[in-house]
Amino acid sequence: MDKIIIHGQNRLSGTVRCHGAKNSALPLLAACLAAGDPCRLYNCPRLADVDTSLDILQHLGCLAVLDDGTAFVDPTNACYREIPDALMRRMRSSIIFLGAMLARFGRAELSLPGGCELGARPVDLHLSALQRMGVHVEEQHGNIRCRCDRLYGASIPLEFPSVGATENIMIAAASAEGETVIRNAAREPEIVDLGNFLNACGAKISGCGESTIVISGVRRLGGCGHTVIPDRIEAATYLAAAAVTAGEVTLTHVCPEHLIPVLSALEKAGCRLENSADTIRITAPQRLGPVGYIRTMPYPGFPTDAQAIIMAAACTAEGTSVFVENIFDGRMKHVGELCRLGARITTEGRMAVVEQSQNLTGAPVTACDLRGAAALIIAGLAARGVTEVSGLCHLDRGYEALDRNLRSLGADIMRVSAE
Ligand code: UD1
Repeated sequence: MDKIIIHGQNRLSGTVRCHGAKNSALPLLAACLAAGDPCRLYNCPRLADVDTSLDILQHLGCLAVLDDGTAFVDPTNACYREIPDALMRRMRSSIIFLGAMLARFGRAELSLPGGCELGARPVDLHLSALQRMGVHVEEQHGNIRCRCDRLYGASIPLEFPSVGATENIMIAAASAEGETVIRNAAREPEIVDLGNFLNACGAKISGCGESTIVISGVRRLGGCGHTVIPDRIEAATYLAAAAVTAGEVTLTHVCPEHLIPVLSALEKAGCRLENSADTIRITAPQRLGPVGYIRTMPYPGFPTDAQAIIMAAACTAEGTSVFVENIFDGRMKHVGELCRLGARITTEGRMAVVEQSQNLTGAPVTACDLRGAAALIIAGLAARGVTEVSGLCHLDRGYEALDRNLRSLGADIMRVSAE
């Protein structure tokens, strides 16, 4: 069990290159299964979740490798197999293979993601949308078994703009018979990226990034080469790390347009931000001010994935900030651990009030989820003394070389193997 050990309060300065987005790479890899010819994904991050996606693709008979930032997937010899529970459980977003398996094989059997680190994560919106497209769904003992002779285009109004459901429908509908219209679709940049990838494979999808997406099914998808968009949450992590250390950091290979609510929160806290088309430079004040009132919302609102990260920054501020988590019901688990570092946070349901504390001080803490792990590292960078972060399996799902990059910016951070 590895640990990260941080001696806090070093000022960060320098330049970091951000990786491709985890939340784009995963649906793109799943979509490769539905493609008819080999695909290359450039700027693909090396993460535990990406490795799991490659393992699932290999299990299904695809050639799937990641080398030097390029994922190569040849789906031509794919053959149907059940995905073993052990493989499915390694990654909560494995549900994203559902649409691709139905498009490719006309059937899929998966274990349900079930409850997780972020609270209940139902898949009812995915399943009812697929039912509208002609899929027969059976749920039994935590397994879902789906079957269809053919996928048919359908009108699909989503009750909530679910990112994963929108992605599953897009992948399934790309080669379905007829037209699919998704209303109240998710508008995240990762949806636009998936739409661009599928269109490069020959799909006919319009409206990605808007609330209504129209997909005219084509007979067959081909393959393509596609560059994964930058990871906006990784970028938010480095920005928060710079913010809590009075740092001056430049991020390259980012898309500032995808980060507007996060940049605006950091500006409110007193940071200076200078953007170009694909770089962000942050200059932080000696002491942050409060970030104000943050409510997580579907894109283009404040991202739930940045909630814990910006809360860690708010813990070091002079003044009070309020966070309301509107997307997931169990996404406050980092609060108790931040309090171990001296933060003053009270929660009431989905709301957290972060009050001014004296300096944070180092302590042993344990991450309970991916972005919570990043939040503890950010708080550790600001804290006086030594912070030891365990639970790194969560961190490895979504960050490539976070400790190495922070060290290159001047942080005193080491990853050690613990007995
Ligand atoms: C994706 C992201 C995750 C991010 C989230 C919200 C990936 C791999 N993960 O997750 O990092 O935090 O979007 O931006 O891209 N819901 C239902 N029924 C469903 C589906 C969802 O009730 O069938 C609910 C969920 O429980 C949750 C909310 O809708 O409360 C949002 O979920 P969704 O947008 O689907 O998130 P994911 O796609 O799982």
